[in-house]
Amino acid sequence: MKKFLLLLPLVLVACTARQPQFRIGVSQCLDDAWRQKMNYEMERELLLHPDMHLTHRIAYGSNELQCAQIDSFIRERVDLLIVSPNEAEQVKPAVTRAFRAGIPVIVADRRVTGDEWTAFIGGDNYKVGQLMAKWVIKKYQNKHHTSHFTPHTSFTVLEVAGLPGSTPATLRHKGLMEGLASLSPSERGVGGVTLHSVMGSWYKEGAYQVVTDYLTSHPLPDVIVAHNDLMAIGAAEALENCQLSILNDQLSIPIMGVDGIRPGLQAITEGKIECTATYSSRGDMIIDAASRILHHQPFVRDTVLETVMLDVEAAYPMLKQDEAIARDLETLHIVQVQTQTQWKQLQNGRIVLISFIAAFFVLLIVVLAFIIRTQFKLQTEIKSDILPQLEEVQEAIQVSRKDEAFAERMKQIVEDHLSDPNLNVEYLGTMLQLSRTQLFRRVKSVTGKGPLDYIRERRLIKADQLLHTTDMTIQQISLELCFSNPGYFTKCYKEYFGHLPSDRS
Ligand code: FRU
Repeated sequence: MKKFLLLLPLVLVACTARQPQFRIGVSQCLDDAWRQKMNYEMERELLLHPDMHLTHRIAYGSNELQCAQIDSFIRERVDLLIVSPNEAEQVKPAVTRAFRAGIPVIVADRRVTGDEWTAFIGGDNYKVGQLMAKWVIKKYQNKHHTSHFTPHTSFTVLEVAGLPGSTPATLRHKGLMEGLASLSPSERGVGGVTLHSVMGSWYKEGAYQVVTDYLTSHPLPDVIVAHNDLMAIGAAEALENCQLSILNDQLSIPIMGVDGIRPGLQAITEGKIECTATYSSRGDMIIDAASRILHHQPFVRDTVLETVMLDVEAAYPMLKQDEAIARDLETLHIVQVQTQTQWKQLQNGRIVLISFIAAFFVLLIVVLAFIIRTQFKLQTEIKSDILPQLEEVQEAIQVSRKDEAFAERMKQIVEDHLSDPNLNVEYLGTMLQLSRTQLFRRVKSVTGKGPLDYIRERRLIKADQLLHTTDMTIQQISLELCFSNPGYFTKCYKEYFGHLPSDRS
């Protein structure tokens, strides 16, 4: 009971704090600018869904780590899993485990093989590949029409691909290949288009390395298509490092990237890369789908996002807009932090107030409990100790009242029969309607002596009165008061008063 009372304030405080209802695990394969944008979009959208809470885990390009992180989400029994798999086949088993464990799974951006997932939201990677092909063909046609071009001139495309096991890399490559294959023989020319692929694994550093290696062992390509902007920048830096792209305009090699977020837009406006294909992350749509799934509302199972080409004309205003938004967001963030701080202060105040009220109630309960306990104790004590004592006292009073009445009656009888020779123990017992034993006990209790002694005492007192108030002789008095002879009277008198009856004064 006492423990419960002490816990009461905490319970009250806990009850007043609002807890999100749904826990969502987010498993990201990487942590680059594009992923951070996606996470940010999700968190922002979450402001509209206060009943959901995200836990982020990043696999840093490791399939094993990502599987382990998904398994930990399964163990924690998250209500929903959002996963952007590093490689489709390798991460599939963990995604399947989550799905089979009854956890709804939203696959974002990169797909997993099979269909054991709840919803997919991601870009149109095949179309991205086709946009690359379109751009390459345009470049090829431009070269075809220049004076340097001979029927035997070949056209080389260097493709810097993403991680081969990830679906965007596979589909972008496919789109590119099939797009290039659609060139008619007359468009292709005699030299044709040659495609060389190197693997940059989605990283800028990876692209820098493989492009550098390529450049040391191959003639310069005509164009470079990178599967994302980061690798496009890596390729540009590799070219720059080889001091090839800066020699003159004719030697500069056009580069195309994919994504169209800040680093890519910046690289385009700086002239490092020529263009990019947009690739949306749409974290907001992912959260909206999650909310629909969790609230059992209708949702689209397979959402494929549009992609468009951005050249410098489009990239520049977009970058400016993006920078302005970033500034606004920063201001918003400051305001948000301030509001949160104020809210926390308010909450703290509330908590203090609630704790205070709770403590007050606990104190009240303790005091009440103490009062009730004391009263209960008092009642028990009264019942067990005081009441019997009271009853005893009352009984004693009654007894003493009875004794008084008895003494009065007995005294009266004795006084009335002092001169009656029949007055003895039997006679008194008969008069008082008591047995010999009862008479002895009661006379003893009210006079402190036996009935015979009492009768004798009363006769001696009467005799003394007569001695002092009358002229009666000792003989007459002894006879009057029924003593057997004057000698016996004298003896009894002397014993009682301490002097002889003849010593009248
Ligand atoms: C980000 C990223 C993007 C790319 C996408 C493909 O991690 O590499 O640059 O478009 O993933 O999944």
